[in-house]
Amino acid sequence: KRIAVLLGGLSPEREVSKVSGAQIAKALRGRGHEVIEIDPAEPFWPEALKEAAPDLVFNALHGEWGEDGRIQGVLEYMRLPYTHSGVLASALAMDKQRAKAVLRAAGLKCPEGLIANRYEAARDHLMKPPYVAKPNAQGSSVGVVIVPDGANRPPAVLASGEWPYGDEVLIERFIPGRELTVAVMGDRALTVTEIVPKTAFYDYEAKYADGGSVHQLPADIPQAVADEAMAAAVTAHQTLGCRGLTRSDFRYDPASGGLWLLEINTQPGMTPTSLAPEQAAHCGIGFDDLVEWMAEDASC
Ligand code: DAL
Ligand code: MG
Repeated sequence: KRIAVLLGGLSPEREVSKVSGAQIAKALRGRGHEVIEIDPAEPFWPEALKEAAPDLVFNALHGEWGEDGRIQGVLEYMRLPYTHSGVLASALAMDKQRAKAVLRAAGLKCPEGLIANRYEAARDHLMKPPYVAKPNAQGSSVGVVIVPDGANRPPAVLASGEWPYGDEVLIERFIPGRELTVAVMGDRALTVTEIVPKTAFYDYEAKYADGGSVHQLPADIPQAVADEAMAAAVTAHQTLGCRGLTRSDFRYDPASGGLWLLEINTQPGMTPTSLAPEQAAHCGIGFDDLVEWMAEDASC
């Protein structure tokens, strides 16, 4: 097949996407597909895509434009089958706070939060610490600030030019405890990974620096908790109407009610340190097979 791989793009996760996209393109070429790599940071990328006339599009983008339904809308309009979730699921999952409202309605437990303007959030505590202030619609932990118990002031950085992540800040209850993640392939939860960051928190550096965190899989947790996390990840995937591969991130804190769903990612990372491909490999599905399955699953 002729497959266009969309990578790079305009979000702060551009570099992550370039790495995901390069790995995906290599896997597809290895399987005998003809691959055209297109960087949607170029203003006329839809023209390049039209010219490429692919059989399908492999979306390897992360974050704004690539993960939030807008690129998906363009691909629908062009009548090109594409991988991962469609317009609505992508847009909803990218909006963390509004997605939680829908996920709660499906019976899932998500931390309380509110959306604020970033200048208001920098002026006063809008929730009693500890809480997390983060862009409502970004990935890879970019722009995340943890406000610890006893902090007198909210983080001033939110109102500064060093925080260029949009005006909507999600102020969310900080859930202590362990970080778990579950990838879903179609309707099947793969396994549960516990992420043990070497830094205090699983930030951008810990995510992508080699050895920045330790992945324990399957996670060393009670079987009932693992089952609950896997079922919750499938419910989240289905409730938002996701397609292909997703990854749901959780916190596990027995003292505050057990398992909390933080978010579902509709374009999970596919880099060498990424979690979803690692879970697939654990289940006997190598990277190339995972990529091939995602390409076959493409639709519009
Ligand atoms: N946002 C990154 C790519 C992830 O969820 O894996
Ligand atoms: Mg995310």
